[in-house]
Amino acid sequence: MERLQTILLVAGLGFFLFSALIMGVWPYTLLKDVPVASLEELAKDIHPSFNDLSQRYPEVFSEYYGQPNEAAYAKALERGRDIYIAEACWHCHSQQIRPVSNESLRFGPVSRAGEYQNVLQLPQLLGTRRVGPDLSRESGKRSNDWHAAHLYEPTWVVPVSVMPSYKWFFETRVNDEGDARIVPNEDGLAVIAYLQWLGSWSEIPPATFYNAGQVIGEGGK
Ligand code: HEC
Repeated sequence: MERLQTILLVAGLGFFLFSALIMGVWPYTLLKDVPVASLEELAKDIHPSFNDLSQRYPEVFSEYYGQPNEAAYAKALERGRDIYIAEACWHCHSQQIRPVSNESLRFGPVSRAGEYQNVLQLPQLLGTRRVGPDLSRESGKRSNDWHAAHLYEPTWVVPVSVMPSYKWFFETRVNDEGDARIVPNEDGLAVIAYLQWLGSWSEIPPATFYNAGQVIGEGGK
């Protein structure tokens, strides 16, 4: 009996060690030298929606980000990602399109490992819950003002939405005539820039607000 216990103990520890090698050490040695894109590298490719933000909300944009250049884009992307983590958007949204259930029809091409080789995915934000839709191909799917309205009060654009409103992403500006206007603040601009960046690298982007003509064709086919 004692012998059996010893065999089981040794076998148990052996398998534990084996799986740690196969699933931990081995992948680590394979992947540790794969380059991780820096924020500066990512920010070289400024998405058109970032320029649109600077024109749509010129006053707040120039106050918080200056010109819509690479440095401003890097700042906005990083801040947007940090807010996405801090506000726990990842509790309800995944950032991984899985090769099951026709997900690619709904969200775009299945996610590839290389898409996560950048600093904005450290820590990775794959997410496990889908209270809301996957966001890894959100880029360009909606316009900036759609995002602004949606973040301010989701039910204004999606009446059945259970997403919370994020009014603290906004501030009120009064113009010279005394008219008040609610506009995204530093955080709001950052989150919108980040959402519009997600999936902008995709080679086969789904039809979006910014490329509908190219993807769908003139006749909307
Ligand atoms: C309690 C769960 C929950 C949380 C937390 C949440 N969302 Fe959502 N989100 C949803 C649901 C449900 C929808 C689908 C209905 C809708 O569009 O409002 C959605 C939709 C969206 C969409 C629209 C996607 C599309 O193109 O159809 C975006 C963008 C989005 N959320 C971003 C965010 C961001 C950014 C945060 C954090 C600041 C966040 N969400 C937090 C539940 C959530």
